[in-house]
Amino acid sequence: MNYHIVTYGCQMNLHESEKIAGVLREKGYDRESPPEEADIIVFNTCCIRENAENHAFGNIGALKKLKREKKGLLIAVGGCMVQEAGKARILKEKFPFIDILFGTHNLDELGALIERKRAQKKSVVSLKEARSATEDGISPVRTSYPNAWVNIMYGCNNFCTYCIVPYVRGRERSRRAEDVLEEVRGLVREGYREVTLLGQNVDSYRDGESGMRFPALLDAVASIEGKFRVRFMTSHPKDFSEELVAVMKKHEKICKTLHLPVQSGSDRILSLMNRRYTREKYLGEIALLRREIPDCEVTTDLIVGFPTETEEEFEETLSLVREADFASAFTFVFSPRTGTKAAEMEGRIPEEVSKARIMRLVELVNANTRAKSAKYVGKTAEILCEDYDEKRGMYLGRDVYGRMGYFKSENSRIGEFVSLLVKEANGVSLYGDAID
Ligand code: SAH
Ligand code: SF4
Ligand code: F3S
Repeated sequence: MNYHIVTYGCQMNLHESEKIAGVLREKGYDRESPPEEADIIVFNTCCIRENAENHAFGNIGALKKLKREKKGLLIAVGGCMVQEAGKARILKEKFPFIDILFGTHNLDELGALIERKRAQKKSVVSLKEARSATEDGISPVRTSYPNAWVNIMYGCNNFCTYCIVPYVRGRERSRRAEDVLEEVRGLVREGYREVTLLGQNVDSYRDGESGMRFPALLDAVASIEGKFRVRFMTSHPKDFSEELVAVMKKHEKICKTLHLPVQSGSDRILSLMNRRYTREKYLGEIALLRREIPDCEVTTDLIVGFPTETEEEFEETLSLVREADFASAFTFVFSPRTGTKAAEMEGRIPEEVSKARIMRLVELVNANTRAKSAKYVGKTAEILCEDYDEKRGMYLGRDVYGRMGYFKSENSRIGEFVSLLVKEANGVSLYGDAID
């Protein structure tokens, strides 16, 4: 039987879709296929911004015809959106043809839900509050070789005022360090060449038994034998520590890049966002990072149009971007999420103002990214080859900073580290020749 999974949102969700595929395989869905040929279609949704939700609504709605025509086709919807207060009911009302609705805390029950649905006509809904258990016992069907995602913790306690994640993912729960290390050892043995440790806020990691914190866990992961890269995300500026920098510096395996979302360059807005750091503290952190590890790159997330943001405050974000010299940045227009504090705040910024602001911001960010990439030309970059691009007729992979490198090769180099002599740079993409 065939399955098709549609994923929205962050790495966390991409990895959870690998787990969903693991559950489906156990239930006899043994092949991935296009939606038209699938026996089950699963939507793994995101609700971080309104457009993520609209996307999912549109794509689920588009299946109505297929569902009517194809007897036996099951449609399941899971992920963060289903976990939002009242959303499961809205989904059910809008799309009565959905067979299974499941939340983010009961992935391991999906198999049983499929069984139940096969036995009854009525649709099945299963939602749970966050649990304390962190091991789901699911073997994921990994789709991103030679990279592998590894959860180190779930949930978030930070309650940034704009953010819905704490409501849909529950409170922080850390996995046992030994379980994380065992998983990474296994992945390295299987030939994975890059491991990305995942958590909404990795700095809050704490092993319940030993009290081990994130820098020590990272140190232990990077001490595992073998040639592989280690990445991690996401870090929070309020928890930035010298220990973390020291561990990054100590291990060649750890990619010298830190994703440190700043969100805004204005202290007043940062305070309204409940981020619990100042512009000065943030800039001090990246200065320290660069002093200790001069070749380290920093990437970030930025929000424009937070309620009451003035033109001057937005310009403080621009000036921070100039000072911080980010390698790249994800930029977002503030999206009010029901249930969060910011959604209740007065002083909403008109859409056209936010749009104009984000355009200026993107231009600035991109100019910096281009200037940084241009410096690669004539130099070599170590690329971990991960795929073949049919359209370009080239192999591709990432360097330690996450830049995409493209090259031609007669034979497959997927899973290999390749030295790329860079001939051309375009945005975050590098083009060149493999010289080993
Ligand atoms: N845990 C991470 C990532 C959270 S979601 C962190 O703390 O940084 C990824 C990004 O989405 C955030 O960094 C933020 O920039 C953006 N984001 C979250 N909620 C948003 C909202 N309501 N509107 C616009 N952007 C949002
Ligand atoms: Fe959301 Fe803030 Fe938690 Fe990140 S740290 S997931 S932005 S509440
Ligand atoms: Fe990720 Fe979206 Fe959920 S960003 S945690 S999938 S709300």
